[in-house]
Amino acid sequence: MTAASDITFPAREDIPVRFLPGSPIAQRCYLVDGELRQWDGPRQEVYSPIFLRTTAGPQPVLLGSYPLLSAGEALAALDAACRAFDHGRGDWPTMTIEERIRHLERFTYRLKEKRDEIVTLLMWEIGKSLGGAEKEFDRTVDYIQETIGALKDLDRASSRFVTEQGVIAQIRRAPLGVVLCMGPFNYPLNETFATLIPALIMGNTVVFKPPKLGVILHAPLLEAFRDCFPPGVINTVYGHGREIVSPLMQSGRIDVLAFIGTSRVADMLKSQHPKPHRLRSVLGLEAKNAAIVLADADLELAVRECLSGSLAFNGQRCTALKMLYVHRRVAEDFLQRFTAAVENMKIGMPWEEGVVITPLPEAEKIDYLQALVEDAVARGGRVLNRGGGTVRHSLFVPAVVSPVSPQSRLYREEQFGPVVPVAVFDDLAEPLEYIVQSDYGQQVSLFGQDPDTLARLIDPLVNQVCRVNINSQCQRGPDIFPFTGRKDSAEGTLSVTDALRVFSIRTLVAAKDHALNQNLFTEIVRERKSKFLSTDFLF
Ligand code: G3H
Repeated sequence: MTAASDITFPAREDIPVRFLPGSPIAQRCYLVDGELRQWDGPRQEVYSPIFLRTTAGPQPVLLGSYPLLSAGEALAALDAACRAFDHGRGDWPTMTIEERIRHLERFTYRLKEKRDEIVTLLMWEIGKSLGGAEKEFDRTVDYIQETIGALKDLDRASSRFVTEQGVIAQIRRAPLGVVLCMGPFNYPLNETFATLIPALIMGNTVVFKPPKLGVILHAPLLEAFRDCFPPGVINTVYGHGREIVSPLMQSGRIDVLAFIGTSRVADMLKSQHPKPHRLRSVLGLEAKNAAIVLADADLELAVRECLSGSLAFNGQRCTALKMLYVHRRVAEDFLQRFTAAVENMKIGMPWEEGVVITPLPEAEKIDYLQALVEDAVARGGRVLNRGGGTVRHSLFVPAVVSPVSPQSRLYREEQFGPVVPVAVFDDLAEPLEYIVQSDYGQQVSLFGQDPDTLARLIDPLVNQVCRVNINSQCQRGPDIFPFTGRKDSAEGTLSVTDALRVFSIRTLVAAKDHALNQNLFTEIVRERKSKFLSTDFLF
């Protein structure tokens, strides 16, 4: 499909019943201190980016509504989290790891029961393809299981005493306190849980605010949160960030900010904390990952990887390729193949087989993308694919734009959508300088076949970004690999094992090595008097 005018939205009866959303979910409660509190105040209605064809023309679909809490309710949620942590004396932070794992396993069981409901909501609420939504859900369950496994390994390694220079010690990781968790709209389940789960399992308590889009899909989990964790360990808040998040930060009682979003919002939130040195931050922020296609690249492979790298889920991935740099010798051939591949991409509804381009969930995104394309064209660029940049309601036909002037906004701004800028280079210094001058430093993809050239590029680039992908698109996974970035792209490192570290701090019990202390340690361990000072092996 190559033009927006060819796109039709389905009528309700065209959609297979198993993909239809249920009746609108009117969420009237939020979870605080182990109870689902009723909310009678204002609520936010949530409409799907998917329109339905009706006799009155395409109509948006109402998915439900959620509470718009005010500062008072948000602070009550924070109070509950603080009480449950109780300065490290609460049941949850002092519980054995084995017991915490049991709570999490119960929750995972309940989560799995909600797979179909959540997958359907991922399609309708943020327009994610069926395959993408299923992958997001399954990856989240795998992530929880891998986290439990990694924690057992960590605990086993810490279940012994160390003797050094006449001092005996046991060194373990302890929780940090109250964590504010906020995930992004493009992975509302997975990237929320990528911080929520390690934060919880390390013994922290949590205030969780779902992203601005992808809120309703968390509603089916509220009861499971309530039933599987002790009161106050997890609390949920909903509403406008300025109303409910700012008071939380200003209170000074948030110990860790786990946020995936823009650096502008992250900076604002951090600056609101009265004692910034007390605040740990785990941030996943913007990126403008480049692909460099060298003159000897296998073009079929490069086109395939660049296509999926730049346009999977409409380019709405922080790891998406957001600038393609192609060597002049292969530029024409690359662009012809790439443009043809874009024109062949399936545009449609999330449940359709093979669909790649789906409705965009952010209402203001279409205008923003059109402005980026117009600006690039005004500065000498051309839209190369037929229909590129045309729009039908929430659907935006991907636009391949080339050349891209360094003066254009598209050259530097993170488009986070289906617009692919392609620049042509003669000298490798040009894309390298582009990366050096970028505000972002997440990943890069290199396409080529000569080991000498690739090695010469790898060495400077590993000091500019945090992952150099060879003949492969940029991506976060596998989740056991470290995921981070330099400059404005991240703070802290996430992966199954790294996340356990960022939500904890090393603490030790140490004693001069003499008979009194040896006997004390022996008795505490033998009689299982302490949960921290223990040599129990976690099977
Ligand atoms: O939005 C940014 C995500 O972390 C990208 O993750 O590479 O698995 O799509 P992904």
